[in-house]
Amino acid sequence: MLETNFVKLCNISDIPENEMKIFNIRNIEFVVVNNNKEFHVVYNKCPHMGNSLGDGSFDDSGYLTCPLHKWQFNLETGKDLKDMKILSLLILIFQQVLE
Ligand code: FES
Repeated sequence: MLETNFVKLCNISDIPENEMKIFNIRNIEFVVVNNNKEFHVVYNKCPHMGNSLGDGSFDDSGYLTCPLHKWQFNLETGKDLKDMKILSLLILIFQQVLE
């Protein structure tokens, strides 16, 4: 039997459009963001001081904002507004295939 490290986080329908949700897999937290049906999965730890990014917010510009000091990160590149810091782990970006 083929072994895989694939772990299913959730169904697409579990995260409504323009919302995000935190998941804990093997004691590592991830945030899944549904930004206009484009899904981004990032490590739930701000590269500034480690706050939970999943408790923050995002907007149509595609930036995820940390709630603690309001640093903003581009969901596609992981970079902050000054292109200095990058999200620790930018895992996956995919678009929902329309039914
Ligand atoms: S901990 Fe996120 S901006 Fe400071």
